[in-house]
Amino acid sequence: MAIDFDTVIERRWTGSLKWQRYEGTEILPLWVADMDFAAPPVVLDAIRARLDHGVLGYSKPHPGLNEAVLEYLARAHGVKAEASWIEWLPGLVPAKSMACRAVGGAGDSVLTLTPVYPPFLSVHADAQKELIMVSLAHDEATAGGWRIDFEALEAAVRPDTKVFLFCNPHNPVGRVYTREEVERVADFCVRHGLLFVSDEIHCDLVLDAAATPHFSAARLDGPVREHMIVLMAASKTYNIPGLALAWALVPNAGLRRQFRAGGGKLIPELNPLSFHATEAALRHGEPWRQELLGYLRGNRDFLTDFIARRLPGLTLSLPLEATYLAWIDARGLGVDHPQAYYEKAGVGLSDGRDFAGAGWLRLNFGCPRATLEEALTRMERAAG
Ligand SMILES: Cc1ncc(COP(=O)(O)O)c(C=O)c1O
Repeated sequence: MAIDFDTVIERRWTGSLKWQRYEGTEILPLWVADMDFAAPPVVLDAIRARLDHGVLGYSKPHPGLNEAVLEYLARAHGVKAEASWIEWLPGLVPAKSMACRAVGGAGDSVLTLTPVYPPFLSVHADAQKELIMVSLAHDEATAGGWRIDFEALEAAVRPDTKVFLFCNPHNPVGRVYTREEVERVADFCVRHGLLFVSDEIHCDLVLDAAATPHFSAARLDGPVREHMIVLMAASKTYNIPGLALAWALVPNAGLRRQFRAGGGKLIPELNPLSFHATEAALRHGEPWRQELLGYLRGNRDFLTDFIARRLPGLTLSLPLEATYLAWIDARGLGVDHPQAYYEKAGVGLSDGRDFAGAGWLRLNFGCPRATLEEALTRMERAAG
């Protein structure tokens, strides 16, 4: 491997959200979704080059950036998009909030599938809307196999439902939805007049792309195009979420205006360093990404084996098709509060309750193998 993902980089006292939660303690943080790896050298070089210019005024996408996105979309995802569809934003969370405000009015409802990344469960409130949650179906017998329960969706949708928030790949269950599933979701949205918001932030973190290729909603043609917002970023894949940049693809011009209006005056001008970092990642990041995926597959396999052999009471949800986030059933532990239980043992995990998944835990394995091994060993020791 040309890239060293094994060396532990000290992140304490750097203002890291992930590490700051436990500063002054020995607890290892394996919660929020960023990785403990340095960004790719090509990305860091691009930031340095922009910095060397010296002037950091208010910025717009520089020439070449939208082209880099369009080329990337075509090459990596078979998406034929147009530059006019692209809206640059400081993140996917604000984008989801804007989408909820873009359509309908106060008192209307937003639909989503659980368990899910926590902001999916709260952005509706920014638009004074209600939330309708539909559980993914989960086949306990095969310890995995999360799938969309379309019958439950049909039963839950209401005349006042305006938005469907979709997460693909799905954080935290790690599913990469098939083309058929995405098409069925699109059909569901069209039939019920819903704005289809597809969060695809993890689309370049598919661990075995030959087996479970990502199918972007932006590939869909037909009526859904008029009611669709696809959200993406280089932030998760290249580990630059702190630079706060994302883009939305909104094919319909009227919807684009409504979407922008949903941001009010809350969306700031964006950061020139993040624009250059994103362009470098999309244009030149692929060799690094391939190495990263190899390392993450190794971590996933290590974790799978460790849990199966040494952590009775925990069941890892498999198959883990994408992301560096593992969704773990802790109900077999027989403790009331699994997150607190492991925190006491020195490991900071995400509490499933925040994802509408009580009794579950989310573990971030985007870290050097040694960190992962130490965390799992502490979890094993917790049992006494
Ligand atoms: C599915 C999903 N969407 C969005 C985000 C965060 O997006 P942003 O930092 O761009 O607001 C995350 C971060 O974990 C995520 O997992």
